[in-house]
Amino acid sequence: MKRLAILTSGGDCSGMNATIRAAARTAIANDIEMIGYRRGFSGLLKNDYIVLDSRAVSGVLQRGGTFLQSARSAEFRTPEGQQKALGNLLKEKVDGLIVIGGDGSLNGALALDKLGFPVIGIPASIDNDIAYTEMALGVDTALNNIIYAVDCIKDTANSHDRAFIVEVMGRNSGYLASTTAIATGAEFAIVPEVEFDLSTMCQQLHHRYEEGRTNALIIMAEGAGRAQDIADSIKDAVGFETRVTVLGHYQRGGAPSVFDRLLGSRFGRKAVELLLTGSKGVMVGLVANSLNSTLLEMVINGGQKKLNEDLIRMSDILGI
Ligand code: F6P
Repeated sequence: MKRLAILTSGGDCSGMNATIRAAARTAIANDIEMIGYRRGFSGLLKNDYIVLDSRAVSGVLQRGGTFLQSARSAEFRTPEGQQKALGNLLKEKVDGLIVIGGDGSLNGALALDKLGFPVIGIPASIDNDIAYTEMALGVDTALNNIIYAVDCIKDTANSHDRAFIVEVMGRNSGYLASTTAIATGAEFAIVPEVEFDLSTMCQQLHHRYEEGRTNALIIMAEGAGRAQDIADSIKDAVGFETRVTVLGHYQRGGAPSVFDRLLGSRFGRKAVELLLTGSKGVMVGLVANSLNSTLLEMVINGGQKKLNEDLIRMSDILGI
């Protein structure tokens, strides 16, 4: 192998830069050139890339986001787009590609694998909904961001006798909401995976209100309903004055945590080593604190990682 390529695709997250840096430097240590496509598969289709020599990846480790930038490409989802991407990789004499991203991006990686091109996937999504890895890149930093914000909100909730609904990311995944609820001492977590009974929650909150508790905190995943509707119901049924805070894209940025810097560095290095030893069509994953690899086919066809419902049970028990 003489030349490898890397790209970041889909929603960005903290730790992507650490991963690019580690992959580039591992390649360089093995006398291999690394190039980085800009804006994910869109850059691959436009043949828009930069050479990632050691200096190009210097000073990026501690920065959030991705300096290669990211995008979602509709053209790459078509068979014609995928053929064009393959043509560009072959024309540029790229021997292997590393794709950093969430399920959509790993699906794109699988498409290139099916065309016979050597690809390695790296799971990156704050939703932590990718199977065959206990943690995806960016999750830990997002949780630290969220917890900082929720602790601030708890201070003001305490001062004003209010119930707060805090909406966190996760269109289809309640991982962020349930772990945040445990780590911030919230009364309830509302997640898309578990059916939720508004009237039971209101009764429990009312009971607490009568006991003299002056505030409440509910963490809700964005895909679990409309936070304002829940807030209105609590106000009507319980009596708490309510406020809603939507944390939005704040959650995805910021300097990566130590965990994400290390995870990204490990993932990046491992991806290059896998290509060098002839592996392809696999995703790197973290299981029991060791790195392993799983066929992309299994990752994609197995569907979204299931939420560990014990997290919900735990947040219910601890929130009472
Ligand atoms: O998949 C990661 C994620 O952050 C989701 O939690 C969220 O619903 C989505 O991306 C937001 O996407 P966009 O940045 O395109 O608005």
